[in-house]
Amino acid sequence: MPIWVNDNQFHIETSRTSYIFSLYKNRYLTHLYWGKKLSSDANLSYIPTEFIYSRPNATHVPVDETNRVFVSDLAMEFSVVGGGDYATPTLHARYADNSTVTELSFEGYMVYEGKRDISPMPSTYSEGDAQTLEIYLRDKRSNLKVTLLYTVFCKYDAICRSIIYKNESQDDIYLLSAQSATVDISGTNYEMLHLCGDWARERHIERIPVNHARCVIDSKRGMSGHMENPFIALLEKNAGEYMGEVFGFSLVYSGSFTASAEGTSCGKTRVTMGINDFNFEWRLASGEEFMTPEVVMAYSPCGLSRMSGIYHRLYRDKLCRGRYRGALRPMLINNWEGTTFDFDEKKLIDIAREGADLGLELFVLDDGWFAKRNGACSLGDWYVNTDKLPRGLEYLAKEVNALGMKFGLWFEPEMISPDSDLYRAHPDWCVHAKGRRRTENRSQLVLDISREEVREYILDTITKVLQSANIEYVKWDCNRTLTETSSMEQPHRYVIGLYKMLDTLTTRFPDILFESCAGGGGRFDPGILCYMPQTWTSDNTDPIARLAIQYGTSIVYPPITMGSHVGSIAVGMAGENQFLNTCAMAAMSGNFGYELDLNLFSEAEKAQAKSYVDLYRKIRPTIQYGEFYRLESPFEGDNVSWMFVDSDRAVLFTFQTKKMINGEERRVKLRGLDENALYEYNGERRTGAELMLAGVGIALERYEYASRCRVYEVIKK
Ligand code: GLA
Repeated sequence: MPIWVNDNQFHIETSRTSYIFSLYKNRYLTHLYWGKKLSSDANLSYIPTEFIYSRPNATHVPVDETNRVFVSDLAMEFSVVGGGDYATPTLHARYADNSTVTELSFEGYMVYEGKRDISPMPSTYSEGDAQTLEIYLRDKRSNLKVTLLYTVFCKYDAICRSIIYKNESQDDIYLLSAQSATVDISGTNYEMLHLCGDWARERHIERIPVNHARCVIDSKRGMSGHMENPFIALLEKNAGEYMGEVFGFSLVYSGSFTASAEGTSCGKTRVTMGINDFNFEWRLASGEEFMTPEVVMAYSPCGLSRMSGIYHRLYRDKLCRGRYRGALRPMLINNWEGTTFDFDEKKLIDIAREGADLGLELFVLDDGWFAKRNGACSLGDWYVNTDKLPRGLEYLAKEVNALGMKFGLWFEPEMISPDSDLYRAHPDWCVHAKGRRRTENRSQLVLDISREEVREYILDTITKVLQSANIEYVKWDCNRTLTETSSMEQPHRYVIGLYKMLDTLTTRFPDILFESCAGGGGRFDPGILCYMPQTWTSDNTDPIARLAIQYGTSIVYPPITMGSHVGSIAVGMAGENQFLNTCAMAAMSGNFGYELDLNLFSEAEKAQAKSYVDLYRKIRPTIQYGEFYRLESPFEGDNVSWMFVDSDRAVLFTFQTKKMINGEERRVKLRGLDENALYEYNGERRTGAELMLAGVGIALERYEYASRCRVYEVIKK
C-alpha cells in the first residue's frame, strides 16, 4: 500500500516520490516533505524547527506556552482564518454567529483502495491503480466537517487532492473561499511558472520570481480562459527543462480559478489553488456538501520534462475517458477557415472529396449550418438551415460517408443570440443581472445552464440533431465569457451545469468523438478533457506562432489532446519558401488536420498535402501515444525542436524560425532513447548514446525565407 501512517505521520508514496505530513500537537496538519522517495521507515518527527528565544512571540504566534515553535513556522496542509496563520487560507467561512474564525480538530482518517467520486466535479479516475487517504477534521462550534482527500496514482507519480466541506449543523454556513489544496514548501528561493497569453497566443511560458511576494494568477471570466491556464509550477531558481526541482499544480476545473505562490518571512513558500474566491460566496445549507475541484500535483527532481511526462501520461490514461481514450484520433478536414459562413451542399462535398483524396478520415462542418446563421444570429436554434443544406444533415453525412470519411458537426451549445427564436421565446434564459445591461460579446449572450430547464432544452435539441444523421464527431465551441452574473454562486453553478450536460451527452453518445473549443484555446483545461479528449489549441494557425503555443501547452497537456491543423494561411505557400512544410510540421506535432478549402490548393500543393497525410499516418501512434520531449524552446531562441518517442520509433521535428546565413553550429541532443540500442537516423546507424550524448547536427542551409523545418524518423533496429 503506498499510503501508511507511522508515528502520527501520513506517508504517501509514488514510484519515485514521497509526500509526508503529520498531525502536530493533535491540532495542525503540517506538511513535512515532498520530494524524491525516502525509505519506508523515514521518520521526520524532528520537523518543525524549534526557535529557542530567537522568535519574539509579539510578532509570531506560538503554538503553545513553551514559546519554541510558532504557527508561522508550521508548514500547513490546511490553513484557516484565526489562530495566527496569516498566509492565504484554504478555507474562509462565515458562520451563523457572523464569525469567520475556524478551529479544526482532527477526527480520524481512512485509507482505502480506489478513489471517491467527487461529482459534480470531474476528476481523474482509478481502475484499480489508485489508493486514497481521507482525513477528517471538524470545526466543533459550527459543525462544519472537512474531509481532505489524497489519492495516489503510484505508477504515474501523481497525487490528487481535493476537499469536501459538509455542513452538519442546523444553520447555513457561507463559504467565502474554499480552496482545493494548500502546500507549504520549505524555502523562499523559487520561481513560479505559469501559462499566460490571450486569444491567438495562448499558453505562453512565463517565469516570475516569488521570493517573499504573493504571486497570483487567476481567471474571473467564468471559464479558465485564454489569459491564464489553471496551472502553476514552483521551480528552484536554477531549474530548467532537464534539471532542478519542480513542483507542479494543475486544477481540474473549467471556471474562474485562482492559484498563488507566496513566500513567507519564516522561510516557506505557500501554494494555494482552487475556485476563485473573488466575487464568490457559497451558501452551504444544513446537510449539504461542497466538493472542491481536484488539484493534480506532480514532483520532478530533474526539471520540467519529467513533470510534463507525469501530466501527459496521467491525463491521457486517467483523465480522458471513453472510446477515444486509447484510440488513434482521425485526421480531419474542417471547412471553417475555407468557407466561414459562405457554403452550400456542393461546396462542402467538394471540400470533403478533396479531403478523401488526400486520405483524410473525418470531415467537420463548422459554424453556419443551422437556422439563419450567416453571421451574428441564431445561436440556440439548433435546426438545419435548409437554404444551405436542402437535403439536410442526413444526406450530407451519407455523402461524406460514401467518400470513406466520418462526418462531424460544430455546435456552440452554451450560447444564445439575441436574434434567435430561442431568445424571443425565453428572454430570461440568458445569464444576466436583473435590471442591468446585458453585455453582448460577438453579438451573443450566454445561456444560464445552471438552470435545469435550460440544460434540458439544449440536451434535447442537440440530441435530436445527433440522432438525425450519422454524426461521429462534435466540436463543442464556447465563444464568450460571463459578464453580468446574478449572484456570487452563479459562475460555479454554471460550471457544474456545464459538467452535468457534458456528462449526459457523452454518456448518451459514447461513440462520438468530442473536441472542445473556446475561441481557439480559451478553455483548454483538465476539467474539459474529462469529457472531451481533445481541444482546438488556438485559432492562430500561423505555424511560427503555433510553435510557441504548442510548446507552452505541452507543459501540462499531451500532444494527443492538441487539435492542430494546417490553416488557410498555407494556401499558395508550397514550394521553395517552405511555408506549407512548416505549417504541416507544426500541425503534425499534435492532433493533425487541415482547415481550409482544399480546392484552392494547386496540384503541386495537393501532392505535398497528401504526403503529409501519408507521413502522419505512419508516425501517428508515436505522436499520439509516445513520450514527448521538448529540446529547444521557442521562448529562448530561433531554433525550436521536439521529439516523440515510443518503444521502437522516435520522431524528431526541428524548426528554424529566422533566416540565417553563416550561423552557429546547431547540434540537438535527442532524449528518451535507449543508450545501448542501435537506431537508424538520417540513413545511418547510430547508437542511442551517440544520438543523445553527442547529439545530431542539423544542417544549416542558406535560405531566403523566414522558416525552415525538418522531420526525422529514428527507427530502432
Ligand atoms: C471560434 C472557433 C473557430 C470556429 C469559429 C466559428 O472562433 O475557435 O474554430 O469554429 O468559432 O464561429
